[in-house]
Amino acid sequence: MSSLPQASNRDLRDEIRDYWSDRAATFDDSPGHRITDGAERAAWEALFRRHLGPGEGRALLDLASGTGEISRLCQGLGFSVTGLDWSEPMLARARVKLPGVSFLQADAERTMLPAASMDVIVTRHLVWTLVDPPAAFAEWRRVLKPGGQLLLVDGDFVTPGWITRLVRRLRPETSLTPDRRRHADILSRVYFSQGARADHIARLLADAGFRDIRIDTRLGAIHRAQAASFGLKRSLLRRTEHRYAICARAPLTD
Ligand SMILES: C[S@@+](CC[C@H](N)C(=O)[O-])C[C@H]1O[C@@H](n2cnc3c(N)ncnc32)[C@H](O)[C@@H]1O
Repeated sequence: MSSLPQASNRDLRDEIRDYWSDRAATFDDSPGHRITDGAERAAWEALFRRHLGPGEGRALLDLASGTGEISRLCQGLGFSVTGLDWSEPMLARARVKLPGVSFLQADAERTMLPAASMDVIVTRHLVWTLVDPPAAFAEWRRVLKPGGQLLLVDGDFVTPGWITRLVRRLRPETSLTPDRRRHADILSRVYFSQGARADHIARLLADAGFRDIRIDTRLGAIHRAQAASFGLKRSLLRRTEHRYAICARAPLTD
């Protein structure tokens, strides 16, 4: 068996991890990352409650936990939270923010966690950069208890919405900042290089054995609450992007 594809995948994973590690120090400064108290927190809570119900101490894994914003939200909803990320600088920030939560360093595609150990898995803004989503989804199903719930929040960050297309036509971008060039370069090589569409992810989840798969695009309350920090232009651009939540259940029996 040739070792070449594995070697190139490993390189891409390293690049993705280093990219996020380099962004850790300023990650919470960007609107849309930090969940602000008040209307934005309430809107995120409503989305999570709608799909997961009350926490009631259930074991929840926050995959790609970053600086711990989603972990914090889920702890507030009454879940018993474990965070997991592969970037040490991200984990360091999350540990300071949430000293009572256990944060593990691991690859979300190979968590090393025991089978059937979690009631709930959540993840925000991870799936679009997964190198091998089918393997990741099989792993998440393995870690979930029978009937356990998955909630992922993501978006297609490749296909421009109609306002973005219009803005680019009126004012074409001449050059990218080094950071955006790095981002675009990584994005061009991941599995969802053409954009992570909700229906595509739903098909892959079904192939991995997930059931009761539902796509929810009702994120308007979150986007409206974020508008104050984004400003009008970025807020409008965001609202025409394909952003969504997907929830699913692990089967009760194999
Ligand atoms: C856009 S940030 C999102 C952080 C957090 N989920 C949030 O919504 O605030 C992406 C995070 O995913 C992590 N990540 C990306 N791929 C990963 C993988 N395969 N395994 C573990 N963490 C990963 C990065 O280190 C980074 O912290």
